[in-house]
Amino acid sequence: MIEVQDLTKYYGAFLAVDRISFEVAEGEVVGLLGPNGAGKTTAIRMLTCFMPASAGRATVNGFDIFSQGLQVRESVGYMPENVPLYEDMRVGEYLTFRARLRGLGPAKRDTRVDEVIQRCQLSDRRRQIIRTLSKGYRQRVGLADALLADPKVLILDEPTIGLDPGQIREARKLIQELAQRHTVLLSSHILPEVEQVCSRIIMLVAGRIVANGRIDELKGSIAGAGATVLEARGSDADGTRRALAALHGVKKVDLSPAGESDLFTFAIETDGSDVREAAAALLARRNWTVRDLHRAKSTLEEFFVQKVAEQGLFKAAGRR
Ligand SMILES: Nc1ncnc2c1ncn2[C@@H]1O[C@H](COP(=O)(O)OP(=O)(O)OP(=O)(O)O)[C@@H](O)[C@H]1O
Ligand SMILES: [Mg+2]
Repeated sequence: MIEVQDLTKYYGAFLAVDRISFEVAEGEVVGLLGPNGAGKTTAIRMLTCFMPASAGRATVNGFDIFSQGLQVRESVGYMPENVPLYEDMRVGEYLTFRARLRGLGPAKRDTRVDEVIQRCQLSDRRRQIIRTLSKGYRQRVGLADALLADPKVLILDEPTIGLDPGQIREARKLIQELAQRHTVLLSSHILPEVEQVCSRIIMLVAGRIVANGRIDELKGSIAGAGATVLEARGSDADGTRRALAALHGVKKVDLSPAGESDLFTFAIETDGSDVREAAAALLARRNWTVRDLHRAKSTLEEFFVQKVAEQGLFKAAGRR
């Protein structure tokens, strides 16, 4: 559905998107992540033919972004970061106007406008002048607009920015629904949301792709992911640490005081084996009292922060 190869964008001399390559298959919902200024919007604008690329290749829905811009724009539902709207029109009027621009015939136009108004829960705002809409409702109008032509591919740039928590939940539900019939590429800073709606993420830092994969895989790849954390009370902490380190499958054990004099935290890094039972048994033999024992779950946020930090180091070392 979307195929991108070495896509590049220079703004003057500034390299905003640096030879990115990725694919999005039919039916996938892919999240585009990255810190502010990473190049997400730039990449999205190139893919939706709202801005020419400097180099590289890309096709969307089988159409080439360089030579078939019109077809790309027709076959993609695009919701930009800041939805440009005709301020003096009413919501319904605006969507009808957009439907006409998209070449929908009069009969189809009205049913389609009704449908998207319903889906985006705009029914009670249909006659409101756009200028007087709140930010969240403007977002909904933008999404309704993107859905008008029932496009196969939806490209959404921060679709839930500015929405209140209730609306975010609604929007998430809507995106999940859309995902069943459309291929979706969306950028977002709201990681729990990305985690709920996306099957895969592509992460950009400073114009480059630094990660591309399934969310659980990426989370599992971060340092310390899946460590077993053990909080226990007892004596000879370092001896216990060494004994834990000698357990089968254990790579490393870090010991730290846990606030009270004989209370300690052991962070056990393994080769992937589950050592919880063996660790508990060992502590019982050594007359330790276990207070807590669990496997640490890494979050997408940790992954994000770690990736950004890593890139900072790489840059400092001149390895970019
Ligand atoms: N028209 C432009 N002219 C010059 N530089 C630009 C232009 N548009 C964007 N940039 C620069 O390109 C880089 C990427 O911007 P872009 O808007 O793509 O980032 P983003 O990942 O969407 O960030 P955000 O999370 O803040 O939306 C930034 O450094 C930005 O300042
Ligand atoms: Mg952006």
